Amino acid sequence: REQPLLLSFPPEIMLKIFSHLGPKDLCHCAQVCRQWSHSARDGELWKELYPVRWIFKNDWRFGADTEDMCSCNCDSELPSYGYDDSSFTDTDLDKEGSSDTESSYETDSDCERHTEIHQLLGLVRYLLPMIGPSVWVLKLGCCPMLSNGLAFKILSQCPNLRKLDLSQTAVSDLGLKGLFRKGGGLQLQHLDVSGCKNITDKTLFKLSSSLGKLPVGSGISDIEDSSCDCHTFCSCGKLISTGINPETVKRGLIYLGLSGCYQITDAGLRALAKYGGLPKLRHLDLSGCLHVTAEGLLDLVFVCPALDHTEFFYCDNIDEGPYPETASGCQNLQCKNRVCCRTGE
Ligand code: FES
Repeated sequence: REQPLLLSFPPEIMLKIFSHLGPKDLCHCAQVCRQWSHSARDGELWKELYPVRWIFKNDWRFGADTEDMCSCNCDSELPSYGYDDSSFTDTDLDKEGSSDTESSYETDSDCERHTEIHQLLGLVRYLLPMIGPSVWVLKLGCCPMLSNGLAFKILSQCPNLRKLDLSQTAVSDLGLKGLFRKGGGLQLQHLDVSGCKNITDKTLFKLSSSLGKLPVGSGISDIEDSSCDCHTFCSCGKLISTGINPETVKRGLIYLGLSGCYQITDAGLRALAKYGGLPKLRHLDLSGCLHVTAEGLLDLVFVCPALDHTEFFYCDNIDEGPYPETASGCQNLQCKNRVCCRTGE
């Protein structure tokens, strides 16, 4: 029997055709035949993942939009699953299937919710093993069912992330451990864990060591001169290549959102200041971090020469903090999801 024309195209042509499709269509194509399955799961097609928007908002598009850049107050549009794994422990991460939330909802009669869960788990089980190392952008902010186990499973398969958004989730240090496994996290440029009140200094210790060490003796001015960015984000949030080898990037963090991570202390900030500091950091949000002090802030910003003062947020009540005239103070009063020492005033 003669093969349909479309099925006889070589893989490189199929890849070109598939590059015009959205994530849902690609998933459908992957079920047609073995050749299509292989082409539709090529890492080149899956550099940016927006599972929350795709699954929970039924908006199946690649690429960021303005709404994706907002990390506050958006969970009101999403269902609340009330998932709580606060009793989750370090050893649970290693147990086979322990991080799977599917069984927790097996008896739920809500068909829509059941479908959403299956779609997210399907992504983790069938897609990430093929495309994980190719993923640069992952937005899981406000994910209503993101447990530590699930976050660990997802992040440990995406070691080359440049941009990660976990804002307004219940993820703690345990879930984020997945990111730093096997050398992961080295290429991070944008990390948003705003509103993740379970994050502690442990994550900042791991983050700092995962970002690599700048050569001993490389002063701040030397680092500024060595343009080692391989990718950057344009104003619409899209990742664009600068054509430079990503392996050369060290400590390239540009955006760090820790607003509402109120367990963070000066020790965490000092850990970030180690190994050469954060020479590329432009945005730093520590509003709502009630335990940091002026001393910790000063130690960190001293090694962040690229910091944009208008994008630097910390509690208004900290006296003698860095750049008192130009820094942006506390941002939290505008956001009902975050902690602020003025709440209730
Ligand atoms: Fe102190 Fe908002 S955290 S004023």
